[in-house]
Amino acid sequence: MKFNDYNFAGKKAIVRVDFNVPLDENGNITDDTRIRGAMPTLKQIIAQGGSPIIMSHMGKPKGKVNPKMSLSQITDAVAAALGAPVTFVDDCQKAQEAAAALKPGEALLLENLRFYPEEEGKPVGIEKDDPAYEDAKKAMKASQKEFSKVLASYADCYVNDAFGTAHRKHASTAVIADFFDADNKMLGLLMEKEVQAVENVLSNIKRPFVAIMGGSKVSTKIGIIENLLGKVDKLILCGGMTYTFSKAHGGEIGDSIVELDKLDVALNVEKTAEENGVELVLGVDSVCCTGYDFKTFSVKPDAQIKVFPSNAIEAGWDGLDAGPESREKFTKAIEGAKTILWNGPAGCFECEEFTPGSRAIGEAVAKATEEGAFSLIGGGDSVACVNKFGLADKVSYISTGGGALLEAIEGKVLPGVAAIQG
Ligand code: 3PG
Repeated sequence: MKFNDYNFAGKKAIVRVDFNVPLDENGNITDDTRIRGAMPTLKQIIAQGGSPIIMSHMGKPKGKVNPKMSLSQITDAVAAALGAPVTFVDDCQKAQEAAAALKPGEALLLENLRFYPEEEGKPVGIEKDDPAYEDAKKAMKASQKEFSKVLASYADCYVNDAFGTAHRKHASTAVIADFFDADNKMLGLLMEKEVQAVENVLSNIKRPFVAIMGGSKVSTKIGIIENLLGKVDKLILCGGMTYTFSKAHGGEIGDSIVELDKLDVALNVEKTAEENGVELVLGVDSVCCTGYDFKTFSVKPDAQIKVFPSNAIEAGWDGLDAGPESREKFTKAIEGAKTILWNGPAGCFECEEFTPGSRAIGEAVAKATEEGAFSLIGGGDSVACVNKFGLADKVSYISTGGGALLEAIEGKVLPGVAAIQG
């Protein structure tokens, strides 16, 4: 069923959204992109006289109740964005009464689904090599079905608008769909838009296609990097990954982050890029620091900051951002691009001293977009960068997906989409 063809009047709709938003130490939302992203879907249900029963996960509580990840902290923000009353239900498996009492135009927000191990469907407290593991897995799959059935029982229809979680085959993103017939389950408006944006990038590539991959680890990005090496004209690799590449060539990287078991992977990426005729762009200098507090995102009072070549960083110094030469290199590489994908910042952008690398990339992407490129930005940190630098309306599309976006770009079928579309 298409969302726009469904009449929500008098219907209760259970809507999976991705409200896994970043919170500060006091539980305040620091980036509400994902909440805003789900509003068109939720507002349309309300405007037609329907009642959304909103469900989401937050963080990785691993099947246990954790007040720091309670969705109660965002109820007011959701109600304010929606402009409708939202009642919080603290037990997502005991919402029958609240759901039955819902009136048209009112909404429920269920507690964090991942407080229950059934949401992810992985057996708890037993290792894979335990002989009893297979039985535990079977039992958990059965409980996951029951869990999904209870959620489904609250509503007349199911809407999946959680693009950010569409790469997970969980109770609320996939299994629940089995309890609704094809006429009563659908993708939400955000999900439709996200799937379309990925299709725009993959099926209608205007060249040059430049991808910018940042973040700290090669290991978490290698799948997408390998995949992009078959598609892009230029690949900019920045952020903490820089030092694994530098180390692979025998560089001195001081105290910078490195994956010593991925040096061969880095060399292989360079080899494949060369074979495929892809221009690989790596940083050549780094802004380094002698004392950075990763918890408070701040430079310790007595710490020093200095620029080093990325392959000659002295001991005691930690590379935290792209240096001036690297920034110029990245900016030049983005110039003239017609398709751009950006995932992951160039440095510890949360701290003012280390924003210039990510800012330079953001500004170059905005300029190329103004000159006609289609730019797709995904992943919480790059989205936060774009918002922080006031560039949100200067790029073509900001995705609410991180891992989900990357898997979709890799060409994988997302379980959350498959559960609805088959
Ligand atoms: C995300 O933040 O990318 C999504 O909310 C998915 O979260 P997960 O990686 O914990 O499944």
